[in-house]
Amino acid sequence: MIELIKITKRYGSIIANDEVCLKVDKGELLTLLGPSGCGKTTTLRCITGHCPPDYGEIFIEGKNVTTLPPNKRKVGMVFQNFALFPHMTVFENIYFPLKIRGMNTKEAADRVYETLNLVQLSGYESHYPRQLSGGQQQRVGLARALVYQPKILLLDEPLSNLDAKFREEMRFEIKELQRRLGITAIYVTHDQEEALALSDKIAIMKEGRIHQVGTPEEIFEKPKTIFVATFIGLSNIIEGAVSAIDPVTLDIGSNLKLTLLYRKEIKIGEKLRVLIRPNDVEFLTDEGEEKHNIFEGTIARVTYLGNKMDYLVDLPSRLVIRVQTDLTSRHNPGDKVKVHLPVNKCKILS
Ligand SMILES: Nc1ncnc2c1ncn2[C@@H]1O[C@H](COP(=O)(O)OP(=O)(O)OP(=O)(O)O)[C@@H](O)[C@H]1O
Ligand SMILES: [Mg+2]
Repeated sequence: MIELIKITKRYGSIIANDEVCLKVDKGELLTLLGPSGCGKTTTLRCITGHCPPDYGEIFIEGKNVTTLPPNKRKVGMVFQNFALFPHMTVFENIYFPLKIRGMNTKEAADRVYETLNLVQLSGYESHYPRQLSGGQQQRVGLARALVYQPKILLLDEPLSNLDAKFREEMRFEIKELQRRLGITAIYVTHDQEEALALSDKIAIMKEGRIHQVGTPEEIFEKPKTIFVATFIGLSNIIEGAVSAIDPVTLDIGSNLKLTLLYRKEIKIGEKLRVLIRPNDVEFLTDEGEEKHNIFEGTIARVTYLGNKMDYLVDLPSRLVIRVQTDLTSRHNPGDKVKVHLPVNKCKILS
């Protein structure tokens, strides 16, 4: 439905998009996730046609639209800092852009009522924006994009100015609407939780480049780079050099050795970085059968998070491991503990 091929966009010395390649299938919701300034809005503006790329091509439904003006692309967009017209009612806010485009009065009005119904704002036609809550205003913003019945909807941080609880509600409303209408969507956010909850696919972006595209599970379970691993979810990154191959052993300082799953391409002396998620690390009370990856440490910090405990554990050689457990484990700062990093949970990053 949407395909970007090596989209490149510079602003002076800044490369906002650096050979961005992306494919979104029909009916799919892809989130573009990355830190501020990484080029997310620029990517969307290239797709709408508001920002012609310096290089690269854009296809929509198999058709090359790279040089097509925005109004010929049938792409709806909810802008990052959208503003409703304060002196116009909800009805007028949605109706006005249709009139400007020359749609006849009756058809335009019908569409506005239909769209308001879709975003559950029927009855609010004659309210002014200042009489609406933040979430209702967001929905008017959404209605302004949906009123064109776009096949493609681009949403640029549409929930960024809502509080946490309401964001969660709204995000599922948007997802539900997108699925029901069969719209293909790209959703920009820098909130990883939002991305994991909403997406069919996530594209992780940094400094103008896409680092990895995959399902939420793939991105979380098999991050390809250290950036992806640390950007999505909490992570411990352990570095070291390979000192043995069978089993694969990493020297991580102070005589500590980390055992990893066998991989045939690994060579002695090679430097590796390993990811282990805090909720995959365990405290051992009794060693039992475990032989590998047990380290003695001291609890440095304890944080109660309501549904789980979060610990920082000091290991020798200035290694600090973050551990998250359920509420049944209770340790205090200064306690001596044994942490276990299960071999199959230690993932080698490229
Ligand atoms: N019109 C412009 N003129 C000059 N530089 C620009 C322009 N638009 C964007 N940039 C620069 O391009 C880079 C990418 O900007 P973009 O708006 O795409 O980032 P973003 O990922 O959407 O960030 P945010 O999460 O803060 O919205 C930034 O360094 C930004 O300063
Ligand atoms: Mg932006």
